[in-house]
Amino acid sequence: MKQQYRQILVTPKPFVKWAGGKRQLIPILNENLPDNFRTYHEPFLGGGALLFHMLTERDGQKCCISDLNSDLVLAYTVIQNDIEDLIYSLKDHEKNYQKDSKSYYYSIRESNPDNKIEKTSRLLFLNRTCFNGLYRVNSRGKFNVPLGKYTNPNIVNEDNLRSVSNILKSRNVSIKCQDFGEVLRGAKKGDLVYFDPPYHPVSDTANFTSYTNKDFTYDDLIRLSELCNSLDAKGCKILLSNSDSKEVANTFSTKQWKIKRIKANRSINSDSKKRTGHYELLIKNY
Ligand SMILES: C[S@@+](CC[C@H](N)C(=O)[O-])C[C@H]1O[C@@H](n2cnc3c(N)ncnc32)[C@H](O)[C@@H]1O
Repeated sequence: MKQQYRQILVTPKPFVKWAGGKRQLIPILNENLPDNFRTYHEPFLGGGALLFHMLTERDGQKCCISDLNSDLVLAYTVIQNDIEDLIYSLKDHEKNYQKDSKSYYYSIRESNPDNKIEKTSRLLFLNRTCFNGLYRVNSRGKFNVPLGKYTNPNIVNEDNLRSVSNILKSRNVSIKCQDFGEVLRGAKKGDLVYFDPPYHPVSDTANFTSYTNKDFTYDDLIRLSELCNSLDAKGCKILLSNSDSKEVANTFSTKQWKIKRIKANRSINSDSKKRTGHYELLIKNY
């Protein structure tokens, strides 16, 4: 009973910390949403900050969400369908981490479970305990972030996980693991698509695109802009986030695109001073 009461009070929030996460930008994204739309599509889902805002604010909203990172997509489906098994497995990680955090962290980082519950609890455990809460893989797709410095990381955020599970189960949400170019074939006139791709680098050192073992290149940006133009022609409403770079502005320079420069802090940078004072672009066709 007590559990159910707490569950109702918790607003679902992203269950992973993700590079480029949009939690801090929700107020400005919300101001820039169209007044009405049909299905909501988010093909670069990541931590899903705007998705959770949508699901909480718009009862009955149909959502089609996807990402190319298969471990992340699996985590959404496990949270949706197997929440109690997942919490049980995470509690096990928590107990073992408390005994010897360093050796346990690296043993789990090296492990490669094939069971979906263990795969997801490994992802969430590493996300909570690794340096900067960053998900990054090498060219072979292997997670390669070192142990973080935390005294008491919140490994099992039970209330939020249950709340996320509830909302994913009770609403009209379809989850897929697919490239952005394939997943939007079914988008229709009046639908809203929010694109939050890996950002085009503004400098050689600012480049973070290692969400999967396939980097997001300039050709992908061009492919994305072509898709945006064809969705625009179909009558879809489009909102897109990207870096404040010449290449992005040039790619969206035709008259249907309205570009705003907005202030944004970066949540992932090892130097905390470099997390503030950045601008990025918000582009839309409505
Ligand atoms: C900037 S992050 C999205 C952040 C998200 N909006 C949030 O609030 O956490 C970009 C996402 O795009 C995904 N991605 C990279 N290349 C992709 C592709 N070709 N198709 C679909 N998703 C891709 C990455 O796995 C990553 O999760």
